[in-house]
Amino acid sequence: MKKTDPIGIFDSGVGGTSIFAELHKLLPNEDTIYLADSKNAPYGNKSKQEIIDLCFKNTDFLLQQNCKIIVVACNTATTNAIKELRQRYKVPIIGIEPAIKPAALNSRKKVIGILATKGTLSSELFLETSDEFAKGIDVIEVIGTGLVEAIEKGEQNTAETKKHLQSLLEPMLTKGIDYLVLGCSHYPYLIPQLKEILPEEVFIIDSGEAVARQTKTVLKSLNLLSEKASKEPVFYTNTNINVLQMLLKTSTKKRFNNISYLDF
Ligand code: SIN
Repeated sequence: MKKTDPIGIFDSGVGGTSIFAELHKLLPNEDTIYLADSKNAPYGNKSKQEIIDLCFKNTDFLLQQNCKIIVVACNTATTNAIKELRQRYKVPIIGIEPAIKPAALNSRKKVIGILATKGTLSSELFLETSDEFAKGIDVIEVIGTGLVEAIEKGEQNTAETKKHLQSLLEPMLTKGIDYLVLGCSHYPYLIPQLKEILPEEVFIIDSGEAVARQTKTVLKSLNLLSEKASKEPVFYTNTNINVLQMLLKTSTKKRFNNISYLDF
């Protein structure tokens, strides 16, 4: 592994671009390769074994491109497959988990909401984290049914999605949460819509920045931080290039052109 090798990032689809945006901001000197497995999205409704197999396939592809570290930019993939990935591969693997700890620590009302996929909320890792960090906290868990699908289609701002989001959040509004944890890398693209629904005092937190910081820490500790990026970030998707490009623009305020369709 060399300092100049790229960082490999994968997600079940376009949502992990919210993590890419944080990585790109914090580590502008790094080359990056992003793989969007949108054809198989959402991972959140799949079995643990199916998720593990897809994660292996994505990681194999990124390692064929000589990636020096793998960022799993998908909560469902992390909570279901991070252990298996770390057992199988020698490269460092960074995952993303719902930010329950900061929400539980900072909540004044001791009532927090978590919006995530079925796969994340039912995973062992999530249950362990929740047990450890949210003792004495009322955690209102809601499965974001249909939200990943809407974002994959670029439909985060339609009247239908907003109405659906309103009904999903109802149990959290009734219980009076003061923190909402976004437990899926797609959901940061719903923040404007969430803010329209939630009372102003509710904090919304996601884990993108923490993932970028952790990636930097690990690369630094291995003396693998790059001094200069050699090319534009590279993106691969096995479905629609347009939605990926549109969300990249939303999260980075930049236009990326090196996006290719991959029959994957
Ligand atoms: C999914 O593919 O179901 C959502 C991705 C995530 O959990 O971050």
